[in-house]
Amino acid sequence: MSGPEVAGPLLEVRELTVYHGQLRALDAIDLAVAPGETYAIIGANGAGKSTLLRTIAGLHHPRAGHIVLDGRDITREPPDRRLAGGIALVPEGRRLFPSLTVEENLLVGMHKARTGPFDMQRVFDLFPWIPGRRKQRASQLSGGEQQAVAICRALLANPRVLLLDELSLGLAPIVVRRIYEVLPALVAEGVTVLLVEQDVAQARQVATRVHCLLEGRTSLTGRPDELTAEQIEEAYFGVSSVSSRSSSPSSAAGTGG
Ligand SMILES: Nc1ncnc2c1ncn2[C@@H]1O[C@H](COP(=O)(O)OP(=O)(O)OP(=O)(O)O)[C@@H](O)[C@H]1O
Ligand SMILES: [Mg+2]
Repeated sequence: MSGPEVAGPLLEVRELTVYHGQLRALDAIDLAVAPGETYAIIGANGAGKSTLLRTIAGLHHPRAGHIVLDGRDITREPPDRRLAGGIALVPEGRRLFPSLTVEENLLVGMHKARTGPFDMQRVFDLFPWIPGRRKQRASQLSGGEQQAVAICRALLANPRVLLLDELSLGLAPIVVRRIYEVLPALVAEGVTVLLVEQDVAQARQVATRVHCLLEGRTSLTGRPDELTAEQIEEAYFGVSSVSSRSSSPSSAAGTGG
């Protein structure tokens, strides 16, 4: 057989439902990330964004549904198998080992690494200040520097899909910009990105597709250029009439849909 093949999604999430105790944090979520995409999950605090990334990485077990990587069902695989299969997570809040050096933190990323474009030298190219500080403890770095090291650590596994949970959290806008500046280089190396971002403008700027969660459900998906600010605001906050119309001051509690 020959001829052009339409590439299927690299990562698929089907009808994914996840509970934390009694709380249904995700309710029948579907998404499909094509190779080379930068797919952004947006949504308010507690919407289920981190739960989604962590479940894809294997850190939470779904009550129902499937996670499929390049056509292979990985729903039952433990986190280290998924890492070896090409899924790496940069968790919310960086999570470096504070008492280990920068270099030691990076070496952790090479455990179970796949072969691919990223080695120490290649990640140093992304953040040229790192080699000069590689003997420092991670705890001595600023938040933005820690974020950079956390990204490099994940890249050293040579992921096919890089999961980024709120890169911007607690960082100054200029630092956020510097961090986001490396994304195109990753995409150029063939990395597919699934990121969580609370800053809608930032998400729209970098993403090929945005996917909004509202209280564990999908409230909107689409390409950034085909979604209006009103649609996104409505999907994000769950209010049914954002613009004009006075009245109903506390309609934000309304659950439509
Ligand atoms: N380990 C856990 N145990 C119990 N409840 C949890 C746990 N993790 C998350 N939750 C709850 O599940 C819901 C979704 O949380 P999650 O962290 O996925 O949201 P989020 O969209 O990432 O929020 P944020 O923007 O604040 O990071 C919230 O109500 C949260 O309190
Ligand atoms: Mg979160």
